[in-house]
Amino acid sequence: MTKKKLIAGNWKMNGSLAANDALVRALVAGMKDAACTVAVCVPAPYLAQVQALCAGSALELGAQDVSPHEQGAYTGEVSAAMLKEFGVRYAIVGHSERRQYHGETDEQLGRKVAAAIKHGLVPILCVGETADDLEKHGPSAVPVAQLRAALAGAGLVDKKGTPDIVVAYEPVWAIGSGQAATAEQAEQVAAKLRETLAELLGADVADATRILYGGSVKSGNIASFMREPNVDGALVGGASLDVTEFASIARFQKHVGT
Ligand code: 13P
Repeated sequence: MTKKKLIAGNWKMNGSLAANDALVRALVAGMKDAACTVAVCVPAPYLAQVQALCAGSALELGAQDVSPHEQGAYTGEVSAAMLKEFGVRYAIVGHSERRQYHGETDEQLGRKVAAAIKHGLVPILCVGETADDLEKHGPSAVPVAQLRAALAGAGLVDKKGTPDIVVAYEPVWAIGSGQAATAEQAEQVAAKLRETLAELLGADVADATRILYGGSVKSGNIASFMREPNVDGALVGGASLDVTEFASIARFQKHVGT
């Protein structure tokens, strides 16, 4: 089966009203014939602004986190229902920066995945090993264990139905380092992740699930990743803040007015 590739930009804690306006307008202008699905995952305060800028275009909106809770006394958190009200389609869950700086555990991340799905959001579940993990356990052991734990925590294992989830393989050592994994490394781990999805959720779900690569993706290396059979797109950090780079990554640069 063919599924449309997904290029998602993760702005992280970057942006301003003025910068977002310029970036999103340029992206929207170039979206008409984008070869793949394109999304931007923006800081929560800018959701309304970017929702308005994306209106009527194919550019999709994402958030960078989602609360596992429905509502209530959880200061600082943003619920899946709130995100839904702003036209959000994707929610990044378990980015390594949140695991590292906010101590997020696989168990919590499972509940975030479940909350997102319950409210009709598509979680982009991030998994990936550190340089230390890579040395000690090889490339796929930690990402596969993280995927297993999150799916179990979300209560998805052996359940009927086909949850729409995206898995992003982001080796921690490749994030923001300028040193991307090779396409072969990304493919090797993506294939193991798909095998794990097949084992836990069934072959159909595994086939339909998009597995992204993230970590120092640029216009110069995107093609190599996109050629791999198990890599269905990319989660792009720094390069998603540069309209020429991001447009080029999503292969619609010729439509962006310069
Ligand atoms: P960079 O593309 O800046 O390496 O970041 C990747 C990332 O963390 C996307 O979520």
